[in-house]
Amino acid sequence: MLEFKNVSYIYPKGYRALTNINLFIEKGEFVFLVGPVGAGKTTILKLIYREITPTVGKIFFENQDLSLLSHHQVPYYRRRLGIVFQDFKLLNYKTVWHNISYPLEVTLVPMKDIIKRVFGVLKLVGLTDKRNFYPDELSGGEQQQVAIARAIVNNPSIFIADEPTGNLDFRSTQKIMEIIHEINKMGTTVIMSTHNIDIVNKFNKRVVYVQNGMLVDDTKNEKISVILERESYDTNTI
Ligand SMILES: Nc1ncnc2c1ncn2[C@@H]1O[C@H](COP(=O)(O)OP(=O)(O)O)[C@@H](O)[C@H]1O
Ligand SMILES: [Mg+2]
Repeated sequence: MLEFKNVSYIYPKGYRALTNINLFIEKGEFVFLVGPVGAGKTTILKLIYREITPTVGKIFFENQDLSLLSHHQVPYYRRRLGIVFQDFKLLNYKTVWHNISYPLEVTLVPMKDIIKRVFGVLKLVGLTDKRNFYPDELSGGEQQQVAIARAIVNNPSIFIADEPTGNLDFRSTQKIMEIIHEINKMGTTVIMSTHNIDIVNKFNKRVVYVQNGMLVDDTKNEKISVILERESYDTNTI
């Protein structure tokens, strides 16, 4: 469903962030993107949601070359993705309900479908009771639950999360991971960056390891500690 072919990326000021990335992700997969700070994880995700396009190489989403999307096609492409960030990015002047319903309102979904879908995702993330709260009345973990609900309310094909638990305590992290796991079990492809080794080990999913802008390991069902040991990567840096 998603393919990187010989992708390199150089930032406008000349910094080479990625070198020759080849990656194939199938529908329904759960992929952890791991590696040290500055390795290029966020850059890979930005390429996927088409904030940037490769300097060299191509990225295909369902056989569509993402570099060939025009400016006006990009928002339509993004509607097929659900994206969450470390810092939630909620609208503070809107309630939980309206943060979640907003992406549907702008795509002119009929009100009765909006209500059904918002209640559906609120239930999934466990925040039905707090639907009339504002973001600043919620814990960090709950704010991330809202951001996740907003990301999936459009039924995306791919759920992308860039360090979604980076700002959260242990318990909130567990809750968020349970929700993301549930989203994947419902058939949505998940691509999540993290440098939390415990999470990666607990879930036993495909691990794509990035270092210095290069994809240096890609393994399924193997603990990150085994990868780090075998390849003698520096455990302290991730
Ligand atoms: N807008 C930018 N301009 C120039 N260099 C950048 C920019 N964003 C990131 N970089 C550099 O690209 C490298 C990879 O960054 P990033 O993808 O954010 O890594 P990670 O998410 O793995 O921490 C880093 O060295 C970073 O400094
Ligand atoms: Mg990052």
